[in-house]
Amino acid sequence: MEYPLAGLVDDLRRYLVGQSVPDTLALIADHFPGQASFSTSFGLEDQILTHFIFTHDLPIRVFTLDTGRNFQETYSTWNKTLLRYQKPIEAFAPQQSSVEALVLQKGPNSFYESIDNRKECCYIRKMEPLQRALAGQKVWVTGIRAEQSANRQQMHPAEWDDTHQLIKVHPLFDWTWEQARAFAQEHSIPVSPLHQQGFVSIGCAPCTRAIQPGEDFRAGRWWWEDQAAKECGLHATAPHQGLDPVVEPLPA
Ligand code: ADX
Ligand code: SF4
Repeated sequence: MEYPLAGLVDDLRRYLVGQSVPDTLALIADHFPGQASFSTSFGLEDQILTHFIFTHDLPIRVFTLDTGRNFQETYSTWNKTLLRYQKPIEAFAPQQSSVEALVLQKGPNSFYESIDNRKECCYIRKMEPLQRALAGQKVWVTGIRAEQSANRQQMHPAEWDDTHQLIKVHPLFDWTWEQARAFAQEHSIPVSPLHQQGFVSIGCAPCTRAIQPGEDFRAGRWWWEDQAAKECGLHATAPHQGLDPVVEPLPA
């Protein structure tokens, strides 16, 4: 099958070399009006992109996946962001019936019991809402940086997402953690208080912990699993990783 949109990825990659973050975002906003979305988890990288989008008044929709299991600090950062920029952030929540069925059948913490259970929870709380969030979109902007993991070093600042049939753009791809911290400080960007407590990559509360000096950037995510399993499916590079939900919704 041919993907005309996919054919733009190479051009975009070439064009983006050496472009600043605001220029990258402005190009996307200009070329894909009403069809570009940025997903934020309110981590450091995402706060920087939110800052650029909102202060440059770029027509890129900003949304978050509210899994229902986030840290309170994530909600407080979200709130501070609304107060600071006075711009809307859309929230996509999991399907109520799926969460109710999962919790009824497997309890609230099934993700610790097996990788399949963990992927099932990620599917219900993140992947399915993400599909709804990205429906009809042509570009998905994320805060991914190459430095975050060996897997992410293999990615590109612009790439084709076969699962969602759109172009993914990572404007901070080449940024270092220190660079991001310094930028946020210089521009008084609201950041999660968890970063002061040794958290770098922040996901859901029960699945994220602080890292020790010298540990890998993503060592605090799903720390009880093998390194190889450290993607929840949002950014897996192989063809579709999301497990179909094992749990059937309860009958109405
Ligand atoms: S994850 O796949 O392991 O959860 P990670 O936390 O590294 O991803 O975040 C990478 C990018 O994915 C973020 O910069 C953001 O664009 C997107 N992302 C991750 N979690 C969420 C979320 N809960 N809501 C919206 N976007 C998210
Ligand atoms: Fe569920 Fe943990 Fe995945 Fe969040 S990160 S959706 S709590 S398994």
